[in-house]
Amino acid sequence: MSSAARAAAGPDRYAVAGNPVAHSRSPAIHAQFAAQTGQHMVYERLLCPLDGFRAHIEAFAAGGARGCNVTVPFKFEAHGLASRLSERARLAGAVNTLRFDIGADGRPDWYGDNSDGAGLVRDIEHNAGRPLAGLRVLLLGAGGASAGVLGSLIAARPAAITVANRSADKAELLLAGHAGWAAQHGVELRAGGLQACGSGHDVLINGTSASLAGAGVPVADGALARGGLAVDMMYGPAARPFLDWAAAQGAEPRDGLGMLVEQAAEAFAVWRGLRPETAPVLAALRRELDA
Ligand code: ATR
Repeated sequence: MSSAARAAAGPDRYAVAGNPVAHSRSPAIHAQFAAQTGQHMVYERLLCPLDGFRAHIEAFAAGGARGCNVTVPFKFEAHGLASRLSERARLAGAVNTLRFDIGADGRPDWYGDNSDGAGLVRDIEHNAGRPLAGLRVLLLGAGGASAGVLGSLIAARPAAITVANRSADKAELLLAGHAGWAAQHGVELRAGGLQACGSGHDVLINGTSASLAGAGVPVADGALARGGLAVDMMYGPAARPFLDWAAAQGAEPRDGLGMLVEQAAEAFAVWRGLRPETAPVLAALRRELDA
């Protein structure tokens, strides 16, 4: 389509697809990115039925949309919709960004990416000012959230990453899928239960959903070094118990709002080919949450 024809066809359409999606901050974030970079696009919410994700996404794409973000609980299903995957999406086994590319034969040739891990790493290294190279990292949890970020954490080349999970066998399974990638990057991987995950880590990342169950912080005092960085992948009230615990440990607490904005910027770059400024968007979101 020529650029004139495309302009006549209206703005490019994107959405966040999930169930639920009413709470999603992604439309506001992408609206700010689009305004900032002068991109002619709209970004909406797409509530998908639990048993009808594929049909919903295919209809959205058939209507001329250009791509979508995918959130809970469809990231694994989205992985199966892409005909091409980024390495980080392949490692995660999950996709949070789809781009509705068309192949040379005119048929859909969708590209699937997972920007969660890159968003987390960028927030830690750039926004929190803690380059991960050479550090000792403890990742709590071995579910979808942890699987989504482990590949990117490894690519940042910390000295070691310990994955600790309530059920240790799940942590071991997650590690097994990343063994080759870790060897390639010279990163030592360890797996274990929550009680035997070592002490004095430089960075602790909470990828469990323990707080949603009101279960408190699932790791012993001392797991994180004083002065270390403690990141919860959640934000808002769900992150509060972990952040309060981290502050009491003498660590720097950080919620998942920065990761949210950074993963959105990564997705925006996949779609639009350029990287928006995240700092003003994160600051605006922070003001809104604190109000
Ligand atoms: P998500 O997509 O949010 O990661 P998930 O795949 O269900 O959700 O994973 C939830 C993670 O939180 C798992 O690592 C889970 O541990 P188990 O694998 O042992 O179930 C962890 N989790 C949930 N509740 C927890 C609790 N009360 N204490 C410790 N870990 C908990």
